[in-house]
Amino acid sequence: MCGIIGYIGHRQAREVILNGLKRLEYRGYDSAGIAVIQDGLGLYKKRGKVHDLELLIQDLELNATSGIGHTRWATHGVPSDVNAHPHTDSQSSFALIHNGIIENYDVLREDLEKKGHTFHSETDTEVLAHLIEEIQKMGSLGFYEAVQQALLQVDGTYGIAVVHEEYPDQIIVARMGSPLLIGIGEDEFFVASDASPIVGYTQKVVYLEDEEIAVITRDGYEVSTLKNVPHTKEVHELALSLEQIEKGGFPHFMLKEIFEQGDTISDCMRGRVILNENRIQLGGLDGYVDKLLKARRIIIAACGTSWHAGLVGEYLFEYLAHIPVEVEYASEFRYREQLIDENDVMIVISQSGETADTLAALREAKKRGALVIGICNVVGSTIARETHAGVYTHAGPEIGVASTKAFTAQVTVLAMMALLLGKENRTLSEESMKELLSELDSIPEKVNEILKDTSEIERIASLFTYAPNFLYLGRSYNFPVALEGALKLKEISYIHAEGYPAAEMKHGPIALIDEHMPVVVIAATDHTNEKIVSNIEEVNARKGRVISITSNGQSSVNRLAEFSVTIPETHDCLTPLLTSIPLQLLSYYIAVNRKCDVDQPRNLAKSVTVE
Ligand code: F6R
Repeated sequence: MCGIIGYIGHRQAREVILNGLKRLEYRGYDSAGIAVIQDGLGLYKKRGKVHDLELLIQDLELNATSGIGHTRWATHGVPSDVNAHPHTDSQSSFALIHNGIIENYDVLREDLEKKGHTFHSETDTEVLAHLIEEIQKMGSLGFYEAVQQALLQVDGTYGIAVVHEEYPDQIIVARMGSPLLIGIGEDEFFVASDASPIVGYTQKVVYLEDEEIAVITRDGYEVSTLKNVPHTKEVHELALSLEQIEKGGFPHFMLKEIFEQGDTISDCMRGRVILNENRIQLGGLDGYVDKLLKARRIIIAACGTSWHAGLVGEYLFEYLAHIPVEVEYASEFRYREQLIDENDVMIVISQSGETADTLAALREAKKRGALVIGICNVVGSTIARETHAGVYTHAGPEIGVASTKAFTAQVTVLAMMALLLGKENRTLSEESMKELLSELDSIPEKVNEILKDTSEIERIASLFTYAPNFLYLGRSYNFPVALEGALKLKEISYIHAEGYPAAEMKHGPIALIDEHMPVVVIAATDHTNEKIVSNIEEVNARKGRVISITSNGQSSVNRLAEFSVTIPETHDCLTPLLTSIPLQLLSYYIAVNRKCDVDQPRNLAKSVTVE
């Protein structure tokens, strides 16, 4: 989703901002813009890629040492040069960039139009710029005070950064529901919507909280509430390195991230799977395990891929710890009758830790007294900070818009939590715990084994590159993997795909099967194997093209399927950590064959900070 970068210091602002915008590309965007202060306000914006903006300004003599830049993901108004940020007041004396949505923009716009303001774009952001101008004009206020007053009048969410030609030595920033951080360098400061654009310049950051506003100058920064109460902020050290956010020789971030999964699953388990003591140690849950065990039910709330991980979690918690679980789309949960209270526990899962709907579900559950536990990847993200307790996935930055390594890390955390609770609840014997811990410990090696030879998956991808539809079937733990496989394909190759529990095929989707329909069957769990064999027979009888993902031992499946990708064997409940890998690769190679923009698929955003 939209990205923000700002700079004030001694370097050329253009370079810092363009670098930052490139690092923000992964969030998904359709246009980009930059504003610098150099003998007045210089404003440049362009629909398309950051590279197009770079071409637009490459021959200009820009010598500014402060400025702001933005990548826009359209919500109000089509992607276009004019709708791109920054936006300005009527006199073009200041420029503003904005992440989020001003919900009452139409009322404000109507009022401002009556007062003589002319709007050039269709965006909600331009309304905020004109509102600041109007307030300053009417109240004879200073610029900072006018920004403050305007923000008190808007409903909705924002992370903003503003520069003014009369105040070349300051950037004003503010946050409500849309993340923003200030990077602290040596005699230079940065502002960004996440840490990726500032890594390499500084590791020191402060995170703004909702309703905070800050003035950043060349000498420092001051943070206060919108109502002028000064806030002293804690300085955090970023754990992110430059190498972590570069491609490392892979053609795409997505492929790099798929291949990292042996390591990321290991990193996720490090210091947590204690084999010699036959136990799981999750420091982030210290003091909360009892509450989890006594919960009337656990509600898992998440969106997209994280929701799929949550579905795997449901099977794991119920099987290993006998705790009832419900999995909710965060976006639906928040608008349902709220029957959650202090007897329930909510687990929110989010790679970015910033997804607006997941955050709203978290807040609703907290308000009603439930314990809320987070499973997040981005350290210091809003969800990570607002939950009572949590477990980080430690998968490192995920830049490819399609989530891969975050999914397997989320499932790993859920497996560790279920094992911890199963042991405490005595639903797992010492013997079963031992067997499962040792299986979990061997997963990274098995992931690497799958990744050692991808030739069969590449071959299948080339045969089905132009298939218009795909069906994915799985049972039990692998039903959510079927959903995830279909989502991956849709997202990056734009092929229509659907995931189903295998037995549901007979209740409708079977009508679609003919000789043109590839059907990916995930057949890796022993206890549902016989049933899945029957499903394959049913597809074969209708001439469907079966691509099976099976474990080494399942010869009957391999015999029946037209194509087979075999993976190492593991315990049934851990198979999603392996079966998801060939599906990620299948969608990746198909998307590459179709010449799709794998890392930044159309219309998608990495972090969905609007509702
Ligand atoms: C799919 C994908 C999305 C996210 C969803 C939730 O590849 O990345 O479906 O899973 O937008 O995002 P987070 O996990 O950041 O809350």
